[in-house]
Amino acid sequence: MAGSKRSSLHGQWSSRWAFVLAATGSAVGLGNIWKFPYITGENGGGAFVLVYLICIACIGIPIMMAEILIGRRGRRSPINTMRVLAREGHHHPAWQYLGWIGVLAGFLILSYYSVIAGWAMAYVFRAAGGMFSGATGEQIGALFTGLISDPERLLAWHTIFMVMTMIVVSRGVQSGLEKAVRFLMPALFLILVMLVGYAMSTGSFTAGIAFLFTPDFSKLTPAAVLIAMGHAFFTLSLGMGAIMVYGSYLPENASITQTSVIIALADTLVALMAGMAIFPIVFAHGLEPGAGPGLIFQTLPIAFGQMPGGAFFGTLFFVLLVFAAWTSAISLIEPAVAWLVENHGMTRVLASAWAGVITWVMGLGTIFSFNLWAEAKLFGKTFFDLLDFATANVILPLGGLFIALFATWTLSRKVTMEELGLQGAGYQLWYILTRYVAPLAVIFIFLNVTGLLRFG
Ligand code: PFF
Repeated sequence: MAGSKRSSLHGQWSSRWAFVLAATGSAVGLGNIWKFPYITGENGGGAFVLVYLICIACIGIPIMMAEILIGRRGRRSPINTMRVLAREGHHHPAWQYLGWIGVLAGFLILSYYSVIAGWAMAYVFRAAGGMFSGATGEQIGALFTGLISDPERLLAWHTIFMVMTMIVVSRGVQSGLEKAVRFLMPALFLILVMLVGYAMSTGSFTAGIAFLFTPDFSKLTPAAVLIAMGHAFFTLSLGMGAIMVYGSYLPENASITQTSVIIALADTLVALMAGMAIFPIVFAHGLEPGAGPGLIFQTLPIAFGQMPGGAFFGTLFFVLLVFAAWTSAISLIEPAVAWLVENHGMTRVLASAWAGVITWVMGLGTIFSFNLWAEAKLFGKTFFDLLDFATANVILPLGGLFIALFATWTLSRKVTMEELGLQGAGYQLWYILTRYVAPLAVIFIFLNVTGLLRFG
């Protein structure tokens, strides 16, 4: 059935919108609200943000289109999609390893993602219990340290989050997910608008905005460029098959180009709003922009502690953050679960249980990174730091690079043109970005950071 259209064993999204919602649910998560502000703070602000935005536009969107089209063409889990498409085109079977690397990345990322989502869950109860009201920056900081230095509490939240994730995954990502995201996204957006409104009242709004949007290129190290690019992959869920597997459930008539642009815009908007809410608070309270992974947990509670109705809005915010993390977590493990169902004849429930247990155990490493193993470092990084660096800044960009190469050097132009539904200049633009610009940019940034090629 070479080149023919097929359907997915796991079903299909009910409509194009269902896909947009699910893929946006995957993209918008801890990456936007927790990670983007703290890495922006650590890497000096404006110039970093600019590189990140350029990466989203020139690397992220074209690779997202490539990933979705490969998924829809293959209609299987990423491992099998790559295997089948390579075989149909008489290409090397080694392409299937791209799927394997994605599955590995999914486990690695989810193992720490779940721990951080656990922090957000703990904060739901702190907010609801009024613990932030009137608290000083120092008291809020102490609350955060108290949480992360207690492995048992972190383990409890990690366990609860993993169980929640695997329950949804075991039911199939289509049912339930669509509805959750439909309400979640607008609600999250509204509460971010409110937080930006609060940030305007802190007296440091201009300082915060200047930090985010005024590029100071002297602060832009090669490592910062790598982190900005890695984050573009991470935040759009690219390079590991999550968007590919969602693409495999995409109806035939949906426009891949339009949906990719919508998803990328929504994702970027959420990240920028989070930055605009957080940095004014950082400056107003004399906090450190480079405070690291605790940044949002040390800043936003101050805002909730001072605004009228703060306990209510704080609770709502952390509930929404947990939801956003949930809809992303589901997509992280879907490639592995789809493969277990296809190749091992497992039910979704059993496949989810296995995947969940493996991830849960791996999560212990991240939990201990913040307490028992805090001093155990390799290259100056804790286990969590290493995991985050290896996945976001190495594996995802590499995965994305090969996805781009596969879509434009091995698949025929006829196939990609047909899937994308693009012609003329639009198609050419995608083709050039995906075939040359994105791969060369990734290689260049890798070489630059390893010192093999020094630029700037
Ligand atoms: N995009 C998610 C976020 O920004 O939180 C994280 C993520 C989900 C990364 C799915 C990769 C992935 F495949």
